[in-house]
Amino acid sequence: MDERDLDDDAIAQLEAWLAEARAVVPQADAMTLATADRDGRPSARVVLLRGIDSRGLVFFTNRASRKGRELAENPRAAAVFHWWELGRQVRVEGTVIEVTEADSTAYWSSRPRANRIAGWASPQSQPVADGSDLAARIAQIEERFRGAEVPLPPFWGGYRLLPESVEFWTHRESRLHDRVRYVRSGEGWRRERLAP
Ligand SMILES: Cc1cc2nc3c(=O)[nH]c(=O)nc-3n(C[C@H](O)[C@H](O)[C@H](O)COP(=O)(O)O)c2cc1C
Repeated sequence: MDERDLDDDAIAQLEAWLAEARAVVPQADAMTLATADRDGRPSARVVLLRGIDSRGLVFFTNRASRKGRELAENPRAAAVFHWWELGRQVRVEGTVIEVTEADSTAYWSSRPRANRIAGWASPQSQPVADGSDLAARIAQIEERFRGAEVPLPPFWGGYRLLPESVEFWTHRESRLHDRVRYVRSGEGWRRERLAP
């Protein structure tokens, strides 16, 4: 990575890499999100990045899911993008806050009706008896909202990861991979190189 090509702003740099990834990588917006419970026991799963701006990275989920419960106990998270086709990885760490209900509603309303029905029907991360249990729940929800809009469930919404550090990694044949980490410093960012 040539320092001259890097943006001074970590989020602008991530947006630039995302744009390049979206052109060549299927599901470039998929990121592995790690959370931890109040004892620091970690868990990780893939979620989709649904928004990014100067404030941070937005994703949506069921607030009663395991990740939602962990974020309620311990509002810190790490996210990792890996774009194999580009030989690039980005790591983001920071605090997580809930997005406004208006933002959750706006995204919820953009989802196909079947996804909204499934969002109501699925007690995400809870054990369920079998597939027919879920099918019965879906039928129930379809009946409940027949002929009506499917509103935002009270247990569903978005989160914004506010980055405190962002690390950009590029593959090098030599295995001397290139790493640059941005760390928040006041209103701006401080940048440092890390050994591979
Ligand atoms: C490519 C991909 C994208 C996904 N996107 C989301 C997402 O945006 N939101 C979500 O809640 N789950 C998403 N999932 C499912 C999660 O990985 C996970 O199974 C689910 O959120 C439950 O996680 P939890 O029990 O740790 O809370 C996605 C899975 C994959 C493989």
